[in-house]
Amino acid sequence: MKRLLVAAVVAAVGSPAWGAPPPTSGADLYKKNCASCHGADGKGGSAPAIAGKLPGDVAKVVTAHPPPMSKIELSADDTAAIARYVGSLKKK
Ligand code: HEC
Repeated sequence: MKRLLVAAVVAAVGSPAWGAPPPTSGADLYKKNCASCHGADGKGGSAPAIAGKLPGDVAKVVTAHPPPMSKIELSADDTAAIARYVGSLKKK
């Protein structure tokens, strides 16, 4: 058990994720909460493409979550971070 713990710590420190942007960046939040429906790069999947949409519009949709989009629990900060990220994505 102890050896497993040491291995985990070594793996965490040695992993390339070390020094990467904080886990609450817009990109990570998007991947976790939105990519399953809107696609990894916002170009659409089971839901319409949203890449390049105005951040204000994206935030409004996330807050209002019109059906069939499900309610997604996000803080105002996280919503803003996702909205900025979606707005920065290139359209097709
Ligand atoms: C369960 C699947 C699902 C998830 C997860 C989801 N959406 Fe959606 N979203 C949809 C669907 C379906 C629509 C289309 C609604 C409609 O046709 O009126 C939509 C619509 C939208 C729209 C409006 C698109 C337009 O052209 O008007 C935006 C913006 C949007 N979603 C952003 C997001 C963001 C940001 C997230 C992550 C926080 C997210 N969605 C997560 C399914 C999802």
